[in-house]
Amino acid sequence: MNANGFKPNGSTGPSHVPHSAFSCEGAGSGIIIGDAWHSLQLFPDRTFRCCVTSPPYWGLRDYGIPNQIGAEKGLDEYIANLTEIFQQVKRVLRDDGTLWLNIGDSYTSGNRTWRDADKKNPARGMDYRPPTPEGLKPKDLIGVPWRIAFALQADGWYLRSDIVWYKPNCQPESVKDRPTRAHEYLFLFSKSQDYFYDRKAILESATSKTGARNRRTVWSINTEPFADAHFATFPASLVEPPILAGTQPNDMVLDPFFGSGTVGEVCLRLKRRFVGIELKPDYAEIAARRLRRQATKPDGNRADGLPRPEAKRANRLPRTPPSSQRTIPFGGVEEDSR
Ligand SMILES: C[S@@+](CC[C@H](N)C(=O)[O-])C[C@H]1O[C@@H](n2cnc3c(N)ncnc32)[C@H](O)[C@@H]1O
Repeated sequence: MNANGFKPNGSTGPSHVPHSAFSCEGAGSGIIIGDAWHSLQLFPDRTFRCCVTSPPYWGLRDYGIPNQIGAEKGLDEYIANLTEIFQQVKRVLRDDGTLWLNIGDSYTSGNRTWRDADKKNPARGMDYRPPTPEGLKPKDLIGVPWRIAFALQADGWYLRSDIVWYKPNCQPESVKDRPTRAHEYLFLFSKSQDYFYDRKAILESATSKTGARNRRTVWSINTEPFADAHFATFPASLVEPPILAGTQPNDMVLDPFFGSGTVGEVCLRLKRRFVGIELKPDYAEIAARRLRRQATKPDGNRADGLPRPEAKRANRLPRTPPSSQRTIPFGGVEEDSR
């Protein structure tokens, strides 16, 4: 068990079993409230074509809920927990599937042991700062994204690309002895050596004869604040290329750290089905509200090719959840009484 009390190896009690869900019946999409590792057990092998996700960063935010990822005292535990979750993601991905993982970096604490609450963003403050990992010094850039990338590579994933998400509107920093950080990483992993990648779907414009060229690895995208959420959401423009390149209409997309549901919103727009897993019921509710708004936009919720109103059974969320789990309509939140 790690310092966070989280055992991704499945030995936790029934309280950690995913316990409620939203579903978008017509489109075969939904949100599961639960922790990622346990919720992924609900799905058979090779269910999803693509996973696009942004896990909590290490030591940056306290989401105030047991079993959260990112609040581990040790960096190694954080990476081990993520690796185990992504083992499950690999299992539920189709053999030609891809994982697009957005993750940011952080600095060692410089021996400060706590951080003040941020009044504008209550989730920003932690009641502790994780200790400086062994081998690093105060003020060191930790290199979290690359440590995760190498851990997943060692665990069997094919590391295919590091994409730099350049943020022209990045937060100013008060530092005077290094440049202001203006980027994060988006890693492209594949489950197999050969995989589905629709390069034409994400060509970028060029001055060449054809007016287009293969997508480059630096993407300049402004961050987009999302009013309802008190945590970092990724912009829809960062999620669109992975979904366009990694799936075809009606394919299933997974986000095991769903937050405010950005991946779901893009999927509804691009006519893909999705499953979002979110530990914090409040956030799942925010996401459901957002998706309901999107779904009521003209044609915002049509999954091309799905017979309606009765979707084919194979195209829908598993209908045999554990006895403690229910699938409820998009229109509401239902809590398990346990
Ligand atoms: C960086 S946010 C994701 C934001 C999301 N990409 C968006 O655009 O809104 C990470 C999310 O992971 C959730 N989370 C933390 N630990 C989790 C776990 N063990 N299982 C599932 N979700 C978890 C947090 O509650 C938070 O909403």
